[in-house]
Amino acid sequence: MSDRTGLAVRFLTSMAQALATMSLYAEGHPARARAAVASFDTLLDLQRADPRPSFSFLGSDVVYGPQAIRGLTDWEWATKLANVGVQRLEFADIVDRAAYVAFLEDVLARVSAFSAIAVANAPANAPIPRTGPTAIRFGAVGVRGSNDQRPAEVAPTDVDDSALMDLNVEVDAIQWVHEEVTSRDEIPLLEAEAIVRSLSVAMHGDSQMLLPLLTLKEFDQYTTTHALNVSVLSMGLAEFMGLSPREVRGYGVAGMLHDLGKVRVPKDILTKPGKLTPEEWALMRSHTVEGARLILQSDQNLDVAALVAFEHHIMINGGGYPDRHYRCDCHKASTLVHVCDVYDALRTKRPYREAWEPAATLQYIDRGIGTEFDPDVAKAFIAMMGKWEPRLAVADLSQAAA
Ligand SMILES: [Fe+2]
Ligand SMILES: [Fe+2]
Repeated sequence: MSDRTGLAVRFLTSMAQALATMSLYAEGHPARARAAVASFDTLLDLQRADPRPSFSFLGSDVVYGPQAIRGLTDWEWATKLANVGVQRLEFADIVDRAAYVAFLEDVLARVSAFSAIAVANAPANAPIPRTGPTAIRFGAVGVRGSNDQRPAEVAPTDVDDSALMDLNVEVDAIQWVHEEVTSRDEIPLLEAEAIVRSLSVAMHGDSQMLLPLLTLKEFDQYTTTHALNVSVLSMGLAEFMGLSPREVRGYGVAGMLHDLGKVRVPKDILTKPGKLTPEEWALMRSHTVEGARLILQSDQNLDVAALVAFEHHIMINGGGYPDRHYRCDCHKASTLVHVCDVYDALRTKRPYREAWEPAATLQYIDRGIGTEFDPDVAKAFIAMMGKWEPRLAVADLSQAAA
């Protein structure tokens, strides 16, 4: 465990201790203040090493920056905090003591209210109102795009995202996963699954389904934004088609890792504005085989993700790549990721062409039914977009993630 992670664990442990102690004493009792101050000191220690720490609480997992903290698995406060709408906690600046104590009091009030709410059966993940400017930001995981940067055609009218955080932590985490694969030939699976869970929370944070997608500003962010968008779309489509929550998450992981083999393709080929030479094209096509190999090497249990990496460019009529010496039907997950992959690729501006409009992209998918795309899957995708496109939230990456 790195020093920073050690300090983060110490801080979280002391925060939990402070909340537990504070819950035992009435408001105004000096023991409450003492517990809060002791915890504040560990936050200061952490911020000396990491001035802007951020945490996600997902189910029983705790994620610090891009990494899951293994020692804190099943830390009961992860679930407690997530239950009261604190799935993300960020310290954007050095925090003063009063703000931190107020934050603890606020969380404690929510945790106490949650028990009462549970009895009254009220929604637990209602947006958290902001009480004023503070360096501590907390709330649901989700999308925060600025309205003026949103393309008009997808500006959601009924999405209240004022209390939602942005997706920069997920983007950083995917980037980190790619770096780990490049340097160590191994996928950090726990983190990959944590990202998928975090995206799933973002999709369900509101009363209706929301598809949080990212727009691309810099071409070299394509691998990351594309992985995130295909993961979101694959989970949305799998859920729309009535698959089980477990399958939905599996498809989310497969969607996120489908182009993983591109870490083996030279960057100048990936971003080349002109036509590829036959040799370059062969290298580009090899991302399917390489991706499947990397995934299986890391974890044999990721067989669906490995299949998807291998099959996601194969067309329903047998066309596409990689070349095969046999004919067999692709796994359903591959046909599903294929549609989501094409949709996101066409909707994104590339070095050699502009982004396609949503209507033209859906028409392209419609025309490819039965030749390129599996009919059931493609029709479901078009129906899903018809239903959920008004709920599609497009966010730009902030400078921090650029
Ligand atoms: Fe691909
Ligand atoms: Fe792709």
